[in-house]
Order: sequence, then C-alpha cells, then structure tokens
Amino acid sequence: MKHVILIGFMGSGKSTLASLLSPRLNLPIFSTDLTIEKKIKMPISQIFKTFGEDFFRQEEDEVFFKIKALQTPYLIDCGGGFGAYQNVNELGVVVFLDIKINEIYKRLNVQEKAKRPLAHENLERLFKTRHQIYHQKADVILKGSESLEEIIRILQERA
Ligand code: S3P
Repeated sequence: MKHVILIGFMGSGKSTLASLLSPRLNLPIFSTDLTIEKKIKMPISQIFKTFGEDFFRQEEDEVFFKIKALQTPYLIDCGGGFGAYQNVNELGVVVFLDIKINEIYKRLNVQEKAKRPLAHENLERLFKTRHQIYHQKADVILKGSESLEEIIRILQERA
C-alpha cells in the first residue's frame, strides 16, 4: 500500500480521521505539523509569530522530502497549506476532506483558532482558493457523511 495522504482545509477533521483510520488500516500517522513543531520546539502559532510564514513553508518543503524518504507506508496528516502547496500526488493516494465552510466555522472555535495563525485572516477567500487546489489533487473526495467503514472500503480499493 502507498501512503494515504489526508488533505483539506483547517478544521476539516484530518487529524481526527487519521486517528480513527490508523489502527484500522494498520498505518502509523505522520503529521506534517507535529514534525515541524518537534523540530523547532515551538507550537505553530509561535513559529509563525517568531519566524513568519515563509519560514514555516520552507520547513514544510523539508518535511515533504522526509516523507518521500520513508520506506514503509504511512497515513500522512497534512497541514492545510502542506496539502495545497506541496506535490502530494507524488506521495500516494490523496484523500480530500471536502467539508463545507459553514461546518468549518462551527469547528474552529476560539481555542482551535488560537492554534492556527491563518484562521484569523480572510477565511472565506482562502477557503475558495484552496478548495480548487485540493479538488484538483484529490484521488478520493470525502464529504464528511461517509461512515468509517465506507471510508476504509474506499481506501482499500485504492490501495
Ligand atoms: C495551515 C494549516 C494548519 C497549519 C498552519 C497553516 C494552512 O494546519 O499547518 O497553521 O496554511 O492552512 P491544520 O490544517 O491542521 O489546521
């Protein structure tokens, strides 16, 4: 099986889905955000404040090559920008969590927003731009209404 790559907007539920899928697909999780946080030893909000977004995107470039070098398949939990800007199709089966913006607004409460520097900008505009990109990259599109069993079946068919 190739890597399974979860992409989608902030708050679309990539990390939650990753933790549900991981034991079922028997794939360990590789989180692009956590990898950067561990390396820099700071939460993402702090990395953006201290070093800026460009620095964070360069760290994402490095993470891309780390993933390429992995020798066994992983479930890749991508930060929202990683899925949009990196060439994720080179890495494996790309699964887009296509959640509506109204639902995203509901999920991004104050606490969740505080962790995400870009959640304070013009979300709607970013959402529209990103949506097109995610859509183009997707091998599989999930709408958020599928059961876990259905998702597993779809992914096993793609393996
Ligand atoms: C970002 C999404 C975040 C994180 C960073 C930038 C983005 O990840 O990588 O704040 O550009 O959309 P989540 O999608 O897990 O919130």
